[in-house]
Amino acid sequence: MKAEIAAVLLAAGALAAPSDKAPRKAAAACSSAVTLDASTNVFSKYKLHANSFYRKEVEAAVAAISDSSLKASASKVADVGSFLWLDTIANIAKFDEAVADLPCENILGLVIYDLPGRDCAAKASNGELKYNEISKYKSSYIDPIVAKLKANPNSAFALIIEPDSLPNLVTNADLQTCKDSKSAYEEGVAYALKSLNLPNVVMYIDAGHGGWLGWDANLKPGAEQLAKVYKNAGSPKQVRGIATNIAGWNAWDLSPGEFSTASDAKYNACQNEKLYIQKFGAALKTAGHPNHAIVDTGRNAVTGLREEWGNWCNVDGAGFGVRPTSSTGEELADAFVWGKPGGESDGTSDTGATRYDSFCGKSDAYKPSPEAGEWNQAYFEMLLKNAKPAF
Ligand code: GLC
Repeated sequence: MKAEIAAVLLAAGALAAPSDKAPRKAAAACSSAVTLDASTNVFSKYKLHANSFYRKEVEAAVAAISDSSLKASASKVADVGSFLWLDTIANIAKFDEAVADLPCENILGLVIYDLPGRDCAAKASNGELKYNEISKYKSSYIDPIVAKLKANPNSAFALIIEPDSLPNLVTNADLQTCKDSKSAYEEGVAYALKSLNLPNVVMYIDAGHGGWLGWDANLKPGAEQLAKVYKNAGSPKQVRGIATNIAGWNAWDLSPGEFSTASDAKYNACQNEKLYIQKFGAALKTAGHPNHAIVDTGRNAVTGLREEWGNWCNVDGAGFGVRPTSSTGEELADAFVWGKPGGESDGTSDTGATRYDSFCGKSDAYKPSPEAGEWNQAYFEMLLKNAKPAF
C-alpha cells in the first residue's frame, strides 16, 4: 500500500467510534505496532474477535431458519468472538479475510492445527500430513503463518497451539499411531512455539481438559511433557500458558462435578475446569511452564449428557455456553473463549467413512453428523435452543 493511502485510512480509523456497531476498521488503520505483554492477561485489554469466517457460517445458518424468533436469536451468534481454525495448508488462506476487518481493540484468535499424524488417538480429525512430514509442517504450514503474522504487526493475535497433541503423548503413548507421531509432535510444537514467538502474538498450548490430564497419575507427567517441549523451544516469552476444554464439554465450576459420582472419581480431583486449571497450573509451575489459561465455554452449557467423561463427539443435547469474557473470577483463567466454532462437527457419523471414529457412533453422539469441521445445521440449532445464557 502506498504511504498516502495509509495516511488517509489512519485518519478514517481515528474518527470511527470504537464500538461494535461502527463499521469494522481495516488492520492497516491501526496506527502502531502491537506489543503484547505475556506476563499480563491480554484479554483484559483486547476483545476476542467475531471473525468473518464464523460470521458467514452463522449468517448462512440464519438464512436457513424459518422460525422468526429462532432466526433472531441465531443472528446474535454471529457477533460472538471465536477462534478460527487454520486446519490445513490451504486454509491458511482464511487468515487474510479474517484480519481485514479486525478492529484495533480486538484480538484475532487462531488455532494452529496441522501436525504430522494429527489426532493420533482418534480418526475423526486425522490431518493432511503423514507422521513423517515434519519438514513440510515447518516450511509449508508454520512458516507461511509466521509470514502473515509478521506482515500484520499492528494487529493482535491469540494462538491456541495444536489441540490434543501433547496430551495424546501423555496418555495414548502405547498406540502405534501416537508412537509414530511422537517425535513430529514434540519437534513440531517446539518449532511452532519458537517461530510464532512474535511481539503481536500470545500463545496458549493445548492441555486437554480435567477429564484427561486431570487424573492424579497424569498431572505431573502432563505438566512435564508440556514443559519439556516449551523448554526445547527456548522458553518463548510470548507463551502465556495453556488452553483447556478446547472443543470440550466440561463445566467451568459445577460442584459437585459432573462425574463426581463415578466409581473412579476418587482418582481425579479436577472434576471441573476451574479445579483443573488450579491443580494442573500448580504442576506446570513446578515443571517450569507458564500456567495461565483460556477455557473453551462454547458448548458447555448443559451437563449430564455424556455416558463417559471421555466421550467427545458431537454430544447430543449440548448448548452454547458463556460468551467470551476476561471476567472469570479466577486469576489463573485469563478468559473464557469460544474455541470450537459451535455448529461445526467433531466427526462424521457415517460408519463407512475413512475418518469414521466409533466415538461418533456412541449413543450420546448426535446423528447424523458430517465430517469434522463441516457445518451441521441441526446441531447448531440445538446448541442455540439449549444456550445458557440464552441468546
Ligand atoms: C475439527 C476438524 C477441523 C476443524 C475443527 C473446528 O478438529 O478436524 O477440521 O477445523 O474441528 O471445527
